Amino acid sequence: MANVTVIGAQWGDEGKGKLVDWLSNRADVVVRFQGGHNAGHTLVVGDQTYKLSLLPSGVVQGKLSVIGNGVAVDPWHLLSEIEKIAGQGIVITPDLLVLADNACLILPLHRDLDQAREAAATKKIGTTGRGIGPAYEDKVGRRAIRVADLEDREALVAKIDRLLAHHTPLRAGLGLPPADGDALLAELEAIAPKILAYAKPAWLTLDEVAKSGRRILFEGAQGALLDVDHGTYPYVTSSNTVAGQAAAGSGLGPRSAGFVLGIVKAYTTRVGEGPFPTELFDEVGQHLGTVGREFGTVTGRARRCGWFDAALVRQSVALSGIAGVALTKLDVLDGLQTLKICTGYRLDGRDIGYLPAGLKAQAALEPVYEEMDGWSESTQGARTWKDLPAAAVKYVRRVEELIGAPVVLLSTSPERDDTILMRDPFQD
Ligand code: IMP
Repeated sequence: MANVTVIGAQWGDEGKGKLVDWLSNRADVVVRFQGGHNAGHTLVVGDQTYKLSLLPSGVVQGKLSVIGNGVAVDPWHLLSEIEKIAGQGIVITPDLLVLADNACLILPLHRDLDQAREAAATKKIGTTGRGIGPAYEDKVGRRAIRVADLEDREALVAKIDRLLAHHTPLRAGLGLPPADGDALLAELEAIAPKILAYAKPAWLTLDEVAKSGRRILFEGAQGALLDVDHGTYPYVTSSNTVAGQAAAGSGLGPRSAGFVLGIVKAYTTRVGEGPFPTELFDEVGQHLGTVGREFGTVTGRARRCGWFDAALVRQSVALSGIAGVALTKLDVLDGLQTLKICTGYRLDGRDIGYLPAGLKAQAALEPVYEEMDGWSESTQGARTWKDLPAAAVKYVRRVEELIGAPVVLLSTSPERDDTILMRDPFQD
């Protein structure tokens, strides 16, 4: 049995939550390997809606869930999410949740910096303001406080000193008062026992899981085009979101990634700033936003909407080695008379089939569209291929051709069971 790695193949918000929840059923262990509580996963199970940002979606199914070393962890947020989900009847115990002891922490000073920079910037990134970027900066700068430091007061004191030596001038430059090291130490010590209850060498747990032949689902957050290397830099998040990160961000080797499933929305959305060649500012864009309920799970911001961009997804398929795609929100296109798919771009009078790295070139891209007939029937809740109107099937087939990957799953509503399975990724 293969493992499965699920990643967003656009700019995030492709509907991963539902698919990961659905796949969790078939997995034994669910692992987060990058990002932090900037992610927003909505899971609808019966009459309950769970909104998760940091916890792996497997917790809802009672599956062993691992927050890997590649995740930036806000420990206060983690505890509040655990408490919130307990209120919905899901009790998280150390038997259910493993937190990598070498994961880096997001601290209040990271959030301050993230928000102050965004407020001061003339060209904003449009971050979620949760401190993700500054926390990863400190990780790479070898200043971060890690989960394991919480059990070592001496290390904690020294690390806080070092951290403040870096942050104090940064804060002063942004007009922020110096952070209070004693208060930070006290706050960290207050939560340390609760956090440490989940802390383990996650790589070791996962090694045991892998050796015992249990199935692992790697749960990506954000989307491939928000990857810090491969995305629309600098309008990206601060972690690697491509499938290759599943290995480094969990401590398992690259062979463990298994079947790479890209989640793809039947149109395109993005939150925050940055290039978006197929963005729509007309009533079709409004239709997609309203019918698709395109508001950020984390920030509540309205998402920008546009036509399906096959060139972008083709790029993600290559970057992440996507073996198959789960297509979501096809029903949002119901009722549109004509549909457009972007097959590539025109740039300075020539054709280009991918998103170039330069900002100027990205902004100058003109999408090249192919038109297709829409359908008037409802596809919502379809559970077999035969339930779909012929024009919808044609649309899906064309998407497959253009992106160079098969659609193995089709999601037709937020409900867990409204899913058409063409091929089981765990059986591949
Ligand atoms: P950050 O991750 O908060 O630093 O934000 C950087 C960029 O990534 C911004 O454009 C955010 O809107 C975007 N972003 C971060 N997390 C998500 C997500 O889960 N879905 C969609 N966009 C996200």
